[in-house]
Amino acid sequence: MAELEFNERLSEQMEVVYSKRDLLRRRGLVHEALGAAPGERIIDAGCGPGFYVAELLDRVGPAGEVVGVDASPQMLALAAKRCEGHANGSFHEGDATSLPVESEAFDRALSVQVLEYVADVPAALAELHRVLRPGGRVLIWDVDWATVSWHSGDPDRMEHVLRAWDEHLSDPSLPRTLAARMRAAFEAVEVEGHSFATDDLTSETYAGALLPLIEDYVAARESIGAEQAAAWAAEQRELAERGESFFACIQFCFTATRPAG
Ligand SMILES: C[S@@+](CC[C@H](N)C(=O)[O-])C[C@H]1O[C@@H](n2cnc3c(N)ncnc32)[C@H](O)[C@@H]1O
Repeated sequence: MAELEFNERLSEQMEVVYSKRDLLRRRGLVHEALGAAPGERIIDAGCGPGFYVAELLDRVGPAGEVVGVDASPQMLALAAKRCEGHANGSFHEGDATSLPVESEAFDRALSVQVLEYVADVPAALAELHRVLRPGGRVLIWDVDWATVSWHSGDPDRMEHVLRAWDEHLSDPSLPRTLAARMRAAFEAVEVEGHSFATDDLTSETYAGALLPLIEDYVAARESIGAEQAAAWAAEQRELAERGESFFACIQFCFTATRPAG
């Protein structure tokens, strides 16, 4: 694994991505599944640029509270700016495997596209369990990157690029084992798959937003290199110009409850 560094440049790139159409749809699905209510206390583990925290602050209202935790100071700076003026929103630098908050303090916890980066998933699940009150609800969202179906005239190169991209994750197919692992600590574990399919490669879509991120990342991988990465991305842009793009992947939403007793 060669980690993606959520530095200032990548954080700013992701902030732009997160304001686009497919990511708005994803946040809508997350809010629907999480079901936050006025007055609740919520923690977002791996809050990134803080879009969920900002939206959840509106949902919980002045009587509630939302806490964002992230390992990246650059992401936290964007998140804090987004939530300026909210006395009941706060941010802490920390790891998903050791959340810097009290036990049993939250009604709901979410972690969206974070655990796939985490090496010790059982430790992260144990932390989500610890910080929830008995009866509290957790939502975890991750992508199974093996579900990506992406049209190219050079399927071998596409396969190499996607497998090189996998290297930025601890577990590119985490959803396959997550429900079973969650059942060790939580009850009422449910999973729902959401397809993100498009023939549009503009930055409004997940695929269009990913394209430059993948190009940058795989260009620096020995197995691909700058030339192949540029050729791969150029082909995608040409397909888009001809109206021949196709991309699909499945993203998974897991929900569960900390047992009440
Ligand atoms: C793909 S972004 C998702 C951000 C946010 N959850 C969202 O969906 O808008 C992944 C985030 O997880 C954070 N992250 C990765 N590994 C982490 C860890 N071990 N502990 C805490 N945060 C982590 C990164 O800094 C980054 O902000």
